[in-house]
Amino acid sequence: MVRLILTEDYEALCRSGADFLAGVIAAKPDAAVVFPTGETPMGIYRELAERLRRGEIDATRLRVFQLDEYLGIPPDDHRSLFRWMESALISPLGIPMTNVVRLSVNSSDPEAACQAYDEAVRAVGGLDLSVLGLGPNGHLGFNEPPSKPDSTTRVVELTEESIYSNARYWGARDRVPRRAITAGMDVLLSARQVLLVVSGEHKRDILHRALEGPVTPDVPASYLQLVPDVTVLADRVAWGPERVR
Ligand code: GLP
Repeated sequence: MVRLILTEDYEALCRSGADFLAGVIAAKPDAAVVFPTGETPMGIYRELAERLRRGEIDATRLRVFQLDEYLGIPPDDHRSLFRWMESALISPLGIPMTNVVRLSVNSSDPEAACQAYDEAVRAVGGLDLSVLGLGPNGHLGFNEPPSKPDSTTRVVELTEESIYSNARYWGARDRVPRRAITAGMDVLLSARQVLLVVSGEHKRDILHRALEGPVTPDVPASYLQLVPDVTVLADRVAWGPERVR
């Protein structure tokens, strides 16, 4: 079932997202959670870091799983999604690296690295929570269309749309890596809870296609309609002021 939380603006979305995560941490301090990068969750992470400074939360026991990563870039490349996650979330929240499962994109055997990731998820008994952003083409992580719900963690070719939307981080479209590793749909959808965060008018069309359109591999996020416990946190401009469900 999808539960929709609409907020007035992005600031309210961030407070609401932080409330949600604080609730998860309070209920299970060592929850296993996959976290996204992208612009949308950044304000939520800042809000969590603020709450940590005020002594309101303790996230140090969280077990963090990386969502996606470009393939074949040096491990310390500042444009890697891991470095982004480290500086935006892991380090500000004081989460020890021993609690973090990283996608090893530099391994000579990426397929084995994917299997190791899925094995690490199994070893903790599955994810407690998938926190996800919504790609402009309906992707989750880098599960590009078409992606089936049972797809495992794997190497993917990025679509032109994803290359275009990520070009701002690389300076130019032709500098964006063409391939990535993504946590599989299977891992993300079988988490005990899913939180999808969506902000901005440019996501309106794909958000409605994901939640109200046909369930199809062509819109990977549409499979969220079949997941038992999904919370969609969206601001008014993303949902559309005139549209009430
Ligand atoms: C990117 C990432 C996703 C992210 C999504 C939305 O391409 N692969 O993990 O959630 O697109 O990003 P944003 O929040 O910047 O819109």
